[in-house]
Amino acid sequence: MATITASVYTSHVPAIGAALDLGKTGEEYWKPLFAGYQPSQAWMKDNNPDVIFLVYNDHATAFSLDFIPTFAIGCAAEYRPADEGWGPRPVPVVKGHPELAAHIAQSVIQDDFDLTIINRMDVDHGLTVPLSLMCGQVAEWPCPVIPFAVNVVQYPVPSGRRCFNLGRAIRKAVALYDQPLKVQIWGTGGMSHQLQGPRAGLINREWDNKFLDRLIAEPEQLADVPHIEYVREAGSEGIELVMWLIARGAMSDQPPRVAHRFYHVPASNTAVGHLILENSQ
Ligand code: DHB
Ligand code: FE
Repeated sequence: MATITASVYTSHVPAIGAALDLGKTGEEYWKPLFAGYQPSQAWMKDNNPDVIFLVYNDHATAFSLDFIPTFAIGCAAEYRPADEGWGPRPVPVVKGHPELAAHIAQSVIQDDFDLTIINRMDVDHGLTVPLSLMCGQVAEWPCPVIPFAVNVVQYPVPSGRRCFNLGRAIRKAVALYDQPLKVQIWGTGGMSHQLQGPRAGLINREWDNKFLDRLIAEPEQLADVPHIEYVREAGSEGIELVMWLIARGAMSDQPPRVAHRFYHVPASNTAVGHLILENSQ
């Protein structure tokens, strides 16, 4: 049986990747942001998983308006960093875990969640920036990664409730796997930000921190928040936060241990939130 040991939640911002790749982490603007992830990188070294199941969103990089999967699971052997306009990030190729991914696809689809199967894909900042924040600048990522892409870009997007229940189905699938793997599930994107229109630049510290409190203490109730509240309170891109509910839904029903919590504004146009929750087995 494989086990979900912990969940990690973090925002993604392309400028964070650029700051790392261009050697700007020591600049005054970026120092406090990267300081917040130092404990996380130490934690990763002490809690190295066998596989990371990484819930993220593609930003019209691998997908486009031509086809819009609500949920898509990466079953490939590897994924290359995407070219988002400035060339691919100079980070390692992401190795997949086709066996576990295929098993989860089988189990979750039989559990009535419609997943798109991805056998070839490049991965954008939504996936590589969380890896960089948690693992630092490394020659190889510490373990295989299963990318799990969620549509939060083009409406209609999935509800928080559906995301939370999908997390439950992933938890069950992992528990049914016949190899004793330690699996971390990461929920990424968010927190408050809006990149366009009259409200561009919107940040809502109070709502974000309440979201973090509730994600820890009452995720079931948090799953009932309707998408319009995310957009109104956390901005049009704040809807990325529904992805955190997939990771939280995959955790045990027992209260988690909060290994780390961090919140920082600004990083580009985004409020950066970060949590590490450990399962009390
Ligand atoms: C920014 C944030 C995002 O989530 C994203 O996908 C692109 C840009 C930003 O704050 O610049
Ligand atoms: Fe984004």
